[in-house]
Amino acid sequence: MVEAPESLPWWKRGVIYQVYPRSFADSNGDGIGDLGGILAHLDYLNDGTPASLGTDAIWLSPIFASPAYDFGYDVSNYNEVDPLFGRLADLDELIRQAHERGMRIILDLALNHTSHLHPWFDESRASRTSPKRDWYLWQDARPRGGPPNHWQSVFGGRAWQWDPATTQFYYHMFLPQQPDLNWRNPQVREEIEKVMRFWLERGVDGFRLDVVNAYFKDAQLRDNPFHWGLRAYDRQVHAYDADQPELLSVYAEMRKLVDEYGDRMVVGELLRGSPKKIWRYCGAGRLHLAFSFDLISCGWNPLAFQRAILACEQALGPEGWPCYALGNHDVSRLVSRYPGRHALERAKVAAALLLTLRGTPCLYQGEELGMKDGLVPRGKIRDPAGKRYWPLYPGRDPTRTPLPWSDGPGAGFTNGDPWLPINPDFRSVNVARELEDPHSVLSFYRRLIWLRRSSKALNSGSFRSLLKNPKGGLAYLRESEEETVLVAMNFYQRPTQLVLDEDLPTSQWEWRLGTHPGRSGLQVGNTLSLLPYEVCILQGAR
Ligand code: NOJ
Ligand code: CA
Repeated sequence: MVEAPESLPWWKRGVIYQVYPRSFADSNGDGIGDLGGILAHLDYLNDGTPASLGTDAIWLSPIFASPAYDFGYDVSNYNEVDPLFGRLADLDELIRQAHERGMRIILDLALNHTSHLHPWFDESRASRTSPKRDWYLWQDARPRGGPPNHWQSVFGGRAWQWDPATTQFYYHMFLPQQPDLNWRNPQVREEIEKVMRFWLERGVDGFRLDVVNAYFKDAQLRDNPFHWGLRAYDRQVHAYDADQPELLSVYAEMRKLVDEYGDRMVVGELLRGSPKKIWRYCGAGRLHLAFSFDLISCGWNPLAFQRAILACEQALGPEGWPCYALGNHDVSRLVSRYPGRHALERAKVAAALLLTLRGTPCLYQGEELGMKDGLVPRGKIRDPAGKRYWPLYPGRDPTRTPLPWSDGPGAGFTNGDPWLPINPDFRSVNVARELEDPHSVLSFYRRLIWLRRSSKALNSGSFRSLLKNPKGGLAYLRESEEETVLVAMNFYQRPTQLVLDEDLPTSQWEWRLGTHPGRSGLQVGNTLSLLPYEVCILQGAR
C-alpha cells in the first residue's frame, strides 16, 4: 500500500466504517448480505475520489463459522469463514481489494466466549476429566443446590447453565449458547494467539475485540453488590464479573503480538466503558483504542455532548486517543434516537460532530444515509434479546435492517427475500438517490470525511472548546502546527448566537464547509450567529 508519510498512524487519522455483513449487500439472492456483496460495493466506501465516502478502514462484524444464535458473536470456528458469507478466498480477495483502495480491514473477534457448538466446548463438556474441561468455566452446584453465585446474563436469566450429563454448571455472560472461555488457562491463550496470528498473516490490519474487559471473572466467584436497575443484570454493580486486574497482562501480550506485524491495531469494545476505563486499558503496552459510547447516550443537548467530550478529553489527556461512535449494530439509530420533523438536520449536526472531534470516528453502516430504525413485526424478530424482552425492548433488529442501495426491487440489497424487512422509506432513503442529491445526509458525510482527510488540524490536531456553558450549540477549535479549524454548530430549530469565552487566535477565517447552501462566510468575533441547525467549519489564516 502506498501512503504519504504522516505523523499519526492510520488508526488515529482515519475513519472506521462498520459493516454489518448480513445487512450490507447480498450477492447470491439468499436474502443475507455476504462478502461478494461487500466486494461489489467497495467503491462506494472509497474509490480514491470525493465521489465515494472516503473511509479508511472497514470493521467487519463477525464473518466466522457460527450457528448464529447471536448472529456471528457465537463462533464455532475462528479460522473459517461462514459459508453464508462466502469462502476464505473471498475474504482474501476483500483484503486485497480493500488494500488496493487504501482501506484497512478489521476483523471482529469475540473471544470472551465461543459458540456451544465450538469443538472446544464439545470436548470440554464431554466429561469432567476431559483435557479441555478447564477451557471453560465449570462449577459445582452449591451444597444445597443452585448455581454458584448470583451473576446474571446480559441477555437475561442466570449466567450459569446446568449440564445434566456432567452435573456441573457452566458460566455464560450472554446466551447459554455462548459459554465463556477460561482465560486463566494458558492453553486457551495459546490457541487465541494462534487465531490472531492466522489472520494477521493473511493480511488483516487489526481486530475489534468484543467485550474485551469481560475476559476474566473473579476467581473466588464473589457475588456482585446491589445496584438500582430495571433488568436483573443492571441490578448489580459488576465488580466481580468484569474488569478484573488480570486483563492488563492479556492486553500487553496482545499488543506485543499485534505490533510484531507492524502497522496493525486492536480496538476494544468495553462493557460500561467509562473514560477512566478507556484510559486504563489503552496506550503503550495495552490496547491501541477502545470505543467511547458516551455520545450515544447523550440527550439532544449541546451541554450533554460537551460534558461527554470533555470527560473523555480530560481522562485520556493529550497522549490518549478517543475513538467515538454515534451508532453500532447494538443501539437504536441516531435518527430514531432524536426523532421528529428535523431529524435529518440533527443527523447532519451529529455527523459534523463525529467527524470533527479529536479521535478516531467509527461510523455504522446506514448512519451516513440518515436511516431510521426498521420496523420489525414481532413474528420477524431474530435477535435473541428482542425475543426475550419484546414489547418492553424490541431488540437490535431495527438497527440491523438491510442497507438500501436503490429504490429498485429489494432496495438493491437482494434479489431474494431479505432476512430482515427493508425499511418502508427506502424509496427516498437510499444510496443512489442520496449520491445524486447534494443536500442529502450522505453528501454531507462525504464532504465532511474528505475535508477531514485533507486537514491535519481535523484528523490529528488538538481540541479546545470555546464555550464554558453551551446552550444553543457547540463551538471549538481543532489545531495542528500548520492550521487552525473552527467548528460551530447550532443544535436547534431557532437561530442562535454563541458567545465565545475567549478571543480567537485570528480574525481571518476562510469558509471550508457548511450545511447551508449559499453561505460562504460567517461574522467571526466574540459571538457566532448561526442559522437553524447550521454547521460551519472555517479555517483560520496564519
Ligand atoms: C457485543 C456485541 O456488539 C453484541 O452484538 C453481542 O451480542 C455481544 N457483545 C456478545 O458477543
Ligand atoms: Ca447472500
